[in-house]
Amino acid sequence: MEFTRLRKYRKNEIIRNLFAETQLSVKDMILPFFVIDGKNKKEPISSMPGIYRLSIDLLIKEIQEVKNLGVNTFLLFGLADRKNTTGSQSYSKDGIIQKAIKQIKDKIENAVIITDVCLCGHTTHGHCGIVKKEKKNRFYIDNDETIKILAEIAISHAESGADFVAPSAMMDGQVKKIRQSLDSNNFYNIGIMGYSAKYASAFYGPFRDALDSKPQFGDRKTYQMDFRNSQQALKEIEADIKEGADIVMVKPALSYLDIIKIAKEKFKFPLSAYNVSGEYSMIKFACQQGLFKEKDIVMEILTSIKRAGADFLITYFAKEVAKWIQD
Ligand code: PBG
Repeated sequence: MEFTRLRKYRKNEIIRNLFAETQLSVKDMILPFFVIDGKNKKEPISSMPGIYRLSIDLLIKEIQEVKNLGVNTFLLFGLADRKNTTGSQSYSKDGIIQKAIKQIKDKIENAVIITDVCLCGHTTHGHCGIVKKEKKNRFYIDNDETIKILAEIAISHAESGADFVAPSAMMDGQVKKIRQSLDSNNFYNIGIMGYSAKYASAFYGPFRDALDSKPQFGDRKTYQMDFRNSQQALKEIEADIKEGADIVMVKPALSYLDIIKIAKEKFKFPLSAYNVSGEYSMIKFACQQGLFKEKDIVMEILTSIKRAGADFLITYFAKEVAKWIQD
């Protein structure tokens, strides 16, 4: 009987490492933060064990600590203290994110700052765009009105010192509008990470607790993608690349590994995958119950996302992983 012997590759850990096709690296990881006003504030998020809303002073401490572990890239979400229907605090010069970027850039060298560009953390209704009334009890999101505001937010982040802006509102033409506005304000070197294929997902639940951004009526299905579709994801990604994105994204990650794979194969373009709040919390709570050894399960999951084709991993586990792996 003829057969192939492959087990020599599995003999011991050093040999397995030699043959490992996929490596996790701290350099690929992006750690999200929730930023709040005030001083010395560290608010636990009950649906995301181990993750806190931080005031800027504590955020800076935390970034310094994580940077010492080798993670250099951070994605900032701001929680507005004053919300209104148009989310106007999102582009104010002394908004929470604008202040945070300035202070980080002042105090920490070489921290790469990516900022979330969206309205949901700043609007009383919790939607990612401007809500208009069609008829009694019938609402819609005004796409074109919204992208103008997103461009304002992007400019204000760029002025504060952001390296990349990341529009997550899933409005059509948002990348184009932001690229044009950045360029016409001489921010040629500020990049864009487009949330290109962002699905309307139940996995965002814990994040909406963190940011207090649960839609007060309706849902996000009119602007986020239907999880039954994959062709549409390719169209969205292609549009973002054409509109001038520097990085495209698939979000969530774990239930969308097929999308990550086809997107990488088709476009060969820098691709990030967002291992979202629900994916994080499921693992955390399961580990608290003793179901898994956290390191083993997290390494397996994050490696699978990378193996599928993601170049960057946006993950709340970044700090822990950085402790586990040595580059
Ligand atoms: C909102 C936004 C969401 C996330 C990132 N940006 C939530 C949403 O669309 O409701 C989710 C991230 C996560 O779940 O970790 N623009």
